Amino acid sequence: MMSSVTRLLIASLLAMATAACEEGEAAGPDNFTGDVRRGADLVRHYQCGACHDIPGIAGANGNVGPPLHRIGTRTYIAGYIRNSPDNMADWIENPQRALPGNAMPTIGIPQKDARDIAAFLYTLK
Ligand code: HEC
Repeated sequence: MMSSVTRLLIASLLAMATAACEEGEAAGPDNFTGDVRRGADLVRHYQCGACHDIPGIAGANGNVGPPLHRIGTRTYIAGYIRNSPDNMADWIENPQRALPGNAMPTIGIPQKDARDIAAFLYTLK
């Protein structure tokens, strides 16, 4: 027979699991907010095009990093990180935290800017 403590424990674990799932959903593309036009301006401002070939950004034809054609539908970021808008924003904000030692430098982009840039990158399909 289950003790009431065990019951309580199971109930709270279930509640935690449910909360975790809801959080996961909130991170999905449908709930991601970012300003696409501002994002495109920021891509110019931070000169991502010095290292990347980026469709829709004049003069962005760098070849230090991979081209960002269709990055919005790519499965992985940098070959390791599951591509989601939140992970993309984290990557742009601090690629060295996201994947220590990779070749993209942390530029020091504020989170709000990183989210708008991610929104723009997600238009590249
Ligand atoms: C100094 C060069 C440099 C600059 C500037 C730079 N990146 Fe990168 N970026 C890289 C390199 C190198 C990689 C490859 C990292 C890896 O795969 O390990 C990369 C990877 C990426 C990726 C993942 C690409 C893929 O195919 O998985 C994205 C997205 C990205 N950069 C976006 C940006 C954005 C947006 C900016 C401007 C805010 C920017 N980068 C600025 C060098 C740069």
